[in-house]
Amino acid sequence: MLPPILQKLRIPVVGSPMFIVSGPELVIAQCKAGIVGSFPALNARERDGEPAMLDIWLTRIAEELDRHNQANPDRPAAPFAVNQIVHRSNARLDRDIEICHRHKVPIWITSLGARVEVNEAAHDCGGIALHDIINNAFARKAVEKGADGLIAVAAGAGGHAGPQSPFALIQEIRDWFDGPLLLSGAIATGRAVLAAQVMGADLAYIGSPFIATVEAHADPAYKRMICDSGAMDIVTSSLFTGVSGNYLAPSIRAAGMDPDRLDRADAETMNFSDASAKPKAWSQIWGAGQGIGAVRDVVPAGALVDRLAAEYDAARAAVPRD
Ligand SMILES: Cc1cc2nc3c(=O)[nH]c(=O)nc-3n(C[C@H](O)[C@H](O)[C@H](O)COP(=O)(O)O)c2cc1C
Repeated sequence: MLPPILQKLRIPVVGSPMFIVSGPELVIAQCKAGIVGSFPALNARERDGEPAMLDIWLTRIAEELDRHNQANPDRPAAPFAVNQIVHRSNARLDRDIEICHRHKVPIWITSLGARVEVNEAAHDCGGIALHDIINNAFARKAVEKGADGLIAVAAGAGGHAGPQSPFALIQEIRDWFDGPLLLSGAIATGRAVLAAQVMGADLAYIGSPFIATVEAHADPAYKRMICDSGAMDIVTSSLFTGVSGNYLAPSIRAAGMDPDRLDRADAETMNFSDASAKPKAWSQIWGAGQGIGAVRDVVPAGALVDRLAAEYDAARAAVPRD
């Protein structure tokens, strides 16, 4: 059984958090359209001495969704989620947990490390915690540490993808886990959302298609490249962050490198302490998953959700019933 907060979505989709790309505009548009919207807490940055941007964003999201719900009681907004990067180099983690706890964030998404205290903070304010994992061992560890649900990040996902087939990953986790299970990686059509459910997941976790939306915080050339590219244009490399991730080959070429001859990098180089210290990844080397062949135009996020919903309904109707 899904927790009540994940039950009333228009379609079983979570708009996944994306470094730099996801901000309040995208989250609000996703939630108003009926899917969970999310953003990484680290995207909310202020200058030294200024009030915490995360506080400001959370206030704005809550107010705008509240206004929407009052005006549209028949189609209320979906809940939103905040992503915490639980990595030792994230010096803001404790502060960001405190802010999210104070704002009673309903869905907490944790990546790159499972920690009991983060899950406890989520539960203490009435929220649920979903942890992203790339294999069955990490999945077990996350549940032991108190995560309510799992996000299985399979091969082909944008960002730090896993190496495993979604079939293998979902099957191994569903063998022992009957809680909320989300599938991440190259899901870009309503038919693929249904396929994820048939495979054993409860919800699809979709990132890259939302880069090509009006509300995404991305360079127009990045949005265009998503529309013009397909799976063959995606390159897997550890060079840019220290962890294996998927990137658009044309953006690597544009930065003067050969996508076919990239060095490997060490996981120790991963650093979330300071935006300026980050490698060029995400700002000049653009991340994307393998599903982008289904993305043809830059559209408002609501229109993308409409497309996914229409395709999902058509795919369900086309399944033989006997
Ligand atoms: C540009 C980009 C940035 C990302 N940044 C984050 C992040 O900050 N935190 C996180 O948990 N996942 C991040 N991801 C991974 C996504 O949340 C999700 O797993 C992935 O996008 C799903 O695969 P898809 O892009 O093929 O839909 C990022 C993905 C992309 C494409």
